[in-house]
Amino acid sequence: MRFDVLTLFPAILNGPLQESILQRAIDSGRLVVAAHNIRDYATDKHHVTDDVPYGGGGGMVMKPEPIFAAVKAVLADVPSARPPIILMTPQGRRFTQAVARELAQHERMVLICGRYEGVDERVREFLATDEISIGDYVLTGGELAALVVIDAVTRLLPGVLGDPGATLDDSHSDGLLEYPHYTRPPNFQGHAVPEVLLSGHHAQVERWRREQSLRRTWERRPDLLALANLSLADREFLARLTREGELTD
Ligand code: ADE
Repeated sequence: MRFDVLTLFPAILNGPLQESILQRAIDSGRLVVAAHNIRDYATDKHHVTDDVPYGGGGGMVMKPEPIFAAVKAVLADVPSARPPIILMTPQGRRFTQAVARELAQHERMVLICGRYEGVDERVREFLATDEISIGDYVLTGGELAALVVIDAVTRLLPGVLGDPGATLDDSHSDGLLEYPHYTRPPNFQGHAVPEVLLSGHHAQVERWRREQSLRRTWERRPDLLALANLSLADREFLARLTREGELTD
């Protein structure tokens, strides 16, 4: 997977790519992140990348020419099928695990990071093929959002996580929050690990985990249940939780 990241601050990307799983993915050749400084594509003497907004008002707007030129240069060697050109913006579609899975199907993509008040609208309209927001808050720029996308997509690529099944039980992978985890010691400061996990009874452990997952989602993110993949047993368990909730109200 190759990400071409267009940014005015390429150094922001360095730290997270030099540690742990992302670093290993780069070392093994499964991940390539090429950062391109948009400033390098500004052709005027002072390499100006922003300008005042038409119509007045505060703040600066990123100029379209250097961004169009950067994308053209970055994709110059790409034959026909154009990879996604994604503008990172709080106005984009919300980034979710499903979007991460969708993006992981591509071989490469371009991430454009805005700064200042935003980028000239023509970048959104005539260059970007997609717009992604990582949540309903405003960052100082798209770089951290790009790193979030790179991280979430990379861990889904084959061979990046040691255990091939590692992402199957992730929170959100089947629309539910994940069950709780415990490791040794069995009793920590008087807090015992749930008995069933010590039982060695695989089927019971699986059922307990599923119910914990359902209970957590029901308590914390009931909005997710409407779209989750639920069995009859899951639905019965949730109905029981609802009845119990009503009884204790
Ligand atoms: N740039 C600024 N805020 C952002 C957000 N929430 N998501 C993506 N890009 C952004």
